[in-house]
Amino acid sequence: MSKQLESILQRQDEYVPKSARVSYIPISFVRGKGAKLYDCDGNEYIDFLASASSANIGHGNEEIAQAVYGQMTELSQYISAYFPSGPMIDLAEKVSRMTGRPDMMVSFSCTGSASIDGAIKYARGYTGRPKIVSFSESYHGSTYGAISVSKLTNSMRRKIGPLLPECETFNYPVCLRCQYHQAPENCALDCLEQIRYAFRHYLPADEVAAFLVEPIAGDAGLIVPPARFFQDLAALCRENGILLISDEINQGVGRTGRMFAMDNFGVECDLYVLGKSFGGGLPLGAVVGRREVMESLESPAHAFTMSGNAACCTASLKMLEIMERENLFEEAFQKGVYLRERFLKMQEEFPVIGEVRGIGLNIGVDLVTDRKTMEKNYPAAAKISYYCMKHGLLLTFVGQSSLRVQPPLVITREELDQAVEIIHAALTAYTAGELSDSILEKIQGW
Ligand SMILES: Cc1ncc(COP(=O)(O)O)c(C=O)c1O
Repeated sequence: MSKQLESILQRQDEYVPKSARVSYIPISFVRGKGAKLYDCDGNEYIDFLASASSANIGHGNEEIAQAVYGQMTELSQYISAYFPSGPMIDLAEKVSRMTGRPDMMVSFSCTGSASIDGAIKYARGYTGRPKIVSFSESYHGSTYGAISVSKLTNSMRRKIGPLLPECETFNYPVCLRCQYHQAPENCALDCLEQIRYAFRHYLPADEVAAFLVEPIAGDAGLIVPPARFFQDLAALCRENGILLISDEINQGVGRTGRMFAMDNFGVECDLYVLGKSFGGGLPLGAVVGRREVMESLESPAHAFTMSGNAACCTASLKMLEIMERENLFEEAFQKGVYLRERFLKMQEEFPVIGEVRGIGLNIGVDLVTDRKTMEKNYPAAAKISYYCMKHGLLLTFVGQSSLRVQPPLVITREELDQAVEIIHAALTAYTAGELSDSILEKIQGW
């Protein structure tokens, strides 16, 4: 380990609490270009993480940098809630039009989590109902509202309560390990039946403001529910005057080939929440929703000093312009098809791969101890990720057992091929028993 990295790690321990970190492997990045990253020791990596899906446009984009520089030297920001900036209004109009629906409004914040809080406020405000339903294994963020509706890990919730009241949970449809022991071919969507049962017996539907759902459960392992689940959930919402909110923070902005991942399932939501990649590299979040819902709260029920600031909105606008010009949504989808094929081929060769799933450049490769039981194989995921990171591919894992494949959308086919070669070598070494258990002490993950 270089002196520089050692010093960064030492000072991290001294000045940054562990609550603000998730440790994978000690690396500190100093530079990035496209889908390539460079660390402080001069090592090069292909990026399969895209900064947790917050760098869809890739790294070191000159056009965005120039646009932001221009804005910063003119007027970096001036509280847009009091005095609307041109870039904020341009972006609101652009995003509203991108929904393809009339009457959609946009309310900005600085992070995904703060926008989740906004969606909760709008849903309660519009319906006059208190309860928010979210799903097991979901992650919606780290503010008090967002953590209250996140159901992923105890360590994020322990000691900080009480959390927001009136937050209910149902099972997310994890078909590979169906809680109701159904196979996809005879699935009767018991995961929705549990909600109908609750409505009949102990959860008055007329007290539920909204269902908040990830279109693909990112941190749970990139789990893709069947379209029927969302279509029936949307119908259940309509029947009961409940709003449907899609958390697009991880999955939106082109990752699945569309602006909103929920569009892949043919379902219209009342509210969409954006964050991460939406800012084109700068912090930006938004709630996008139907006018009557968004206008249900009074001024200034969801306003932040820095939200919708000119510099961040300029970055976002330039990013969307580049994505359109370079047809990046469609590119991402096609590259995803190609990459999934490569993983499916590897699945034939390596029994440790239980399932390959995903839409777009957004693939979960679920590693199992046994294909019959589909038991999660945490050691395999940890060892293979570690091997890859040591061999020039930044690859992490989520949901204890799923390799998280979310590269920047600008990644080239050559880079994809190189990355696949590294993963193939890792799987070969793992299968040959060459990856030592000592790695498990070095890597943590979610
Ligand atoms: C689906 C989802 N929602 C919300 C968030 C929170 O976003 P942020 O960390 O930008 O506040 C995340 C972050 O990982 C996420 O993946």
